[in-house]
Amino acid sequence: MSQELPPSRMDKLVAVKGMNDVLPPDSARWEWLEERVRTLMTRYAYSNIRTPIVEPTALFVRGTGESTDIVEKEMYSFEDKLNGESLTLRPENTPGVVRAAIEHNLTYGGGRRLYYMGPMFRHERPQRGRYRQFYQLGAEALGFPGPELDAELILLVHNLFADLGLRNVRVELNSLGLPEERQRHRQALIGYFSQHLEALDGEARRRLHSNPLRILDTKNPAMLSLVQGAPQLLDYLGDDSLLHFETVKTLLAACNVRWEINPRLVRGLDYYSHTVFEFATDELGAQGALCGGGRYDGLFEALGGRSTPAVGWGMGLERVLELLKTQGQDNVGPSLDVYAVIAEPSILPHAMSALQALRALGVSIQMNAAQSHGLGSMKSQFKKADASGARFALVFGVDEMQNKAVAVKSLRDGKGEQVVRSLTDLPDWALTLQSPPNLQPGK
Ligand code: HAM
Repeated sequence: MSQELPPSRMDKLVAVKGMNDVLPPDSARWEWLEERVRTLMTRYAYSNIRTPIVEPTALFVRGTGESTDIVEKEMYSFEDKLNGESLTLRPENTPGVVRAAIEHNLTYGGGRRLYYMGPMFRHERPQRGRYRQFYQLGAEALGFPGPELDAELILLVHNLFADLGLRNVRVELNSLGLPEERQRHRQALIGYFSQHLEALDGEARRRLHSNPLRILDTKNPAMLSLVQGAPQLLDYLGDDSLLHFETVKTLLAACNVRWEINPRLVRGLDYYSHTVFEFATDELGAQGALCGGGRYDGLFEALGGRSTPAVGWGMGLERVLELLKTQGQDNVGPSLDVYAVIAEPSILPHAMSALQALRALGVSIQMNAAQSHGLGSMKSQFKKADASGARFALVFGVDEMQNKAVAVKSLRDGKGEQVVRSLTDLPDWALTLQSPPNLQPGK
């Protein structure tokens, strides 16, 4: 095996560049966020879907789009050893969800509201907020043509960010209309940019005939004024498309959500039509897009299914957690009820059976454990109890055990107070704890 590793990785194995370990106590923040997400998804009646991380490469070529950055240069693809089929670690999950919906006929007899959380993989240049393995939360509403679903999905994100306490996040909106409207706009764009060939950079020239809409998305400051003068898609939309877009805006306004129209918002994936949107912040440097999505009424057909309207979004969870931290909301974590101090190994059978009974009543308990044989001195155990953040220490001492009792010592409110309770009283005491939810935001 070892000869397969590059020499620099022979000695010490480390994680792949751009792929991160999530370690405690940071992992508690992830659990806290995931918990909030699940609660909110239930409130909007979205059900969880879990699709494979590996899909046929063709799914993304046909779904995400051949001329997108993702398919052109960012996919982790490999051959299946058995039959040579090209497979890919999913760079996004909208095509996977649509594939599953077609395969299992999920929209038969009605629409479906679905959500997922999980890792995605893109071979991008890693930097703050941009990783090669990152976690996305996504929501997809399948089988609904109405603008009220576009609005509902935007409201869901708005609600989640408000619930998390995030500030200074703007909502950008645009409409990409229908394919034939985009086609007319495309011709106008090609005409416009062809007249200014000398001002186009290499990438824009390459895209001029394959995907001129993406030129509007340029990050090249030298091209900004050119792009600002380009024909705007909104001017090419027909009445139905305009009405769809107007209704989305009216519904958002009715729910007190403010937005900005960004005519340059075209999104980097090929499947969008009508509404597209992004939630963005200026507080995370270059990687300020927290969430992006839109309507993709043509994707089912492109993947071989029946024509089915759909709309959804994807959210980068690392970026959401990073913004929470930037805004001073990083103190979330498990709240521990009890740290169990145990005087000597002979007491372990009594202590552990008492702790089992308490845990069955919902009390969270960290039992003392030492890194050497034995349990450690009482002094070191109390030090660890203090550091654990627990509300109480339960002290299983030699004297107490002889009296079938345990000392309950406060570690937070009324710190140091100690009451001796009989073991038979412990369940009643546990019920008075009224344990707060296991994960709570720290203020
Ligand atoms: P996307 O804009 O490619 O859309 O990604 C959505 C979000 O994922 C971005 O706004 C960003 O927060 C996060 N993200 C993307 N790439 C990275 C990365 N390399 N590192 C960290 N975070 C990243 C989609 O993926 C579509 N599937 C969204 C969608 C769902 N449209 C309709 N339904």
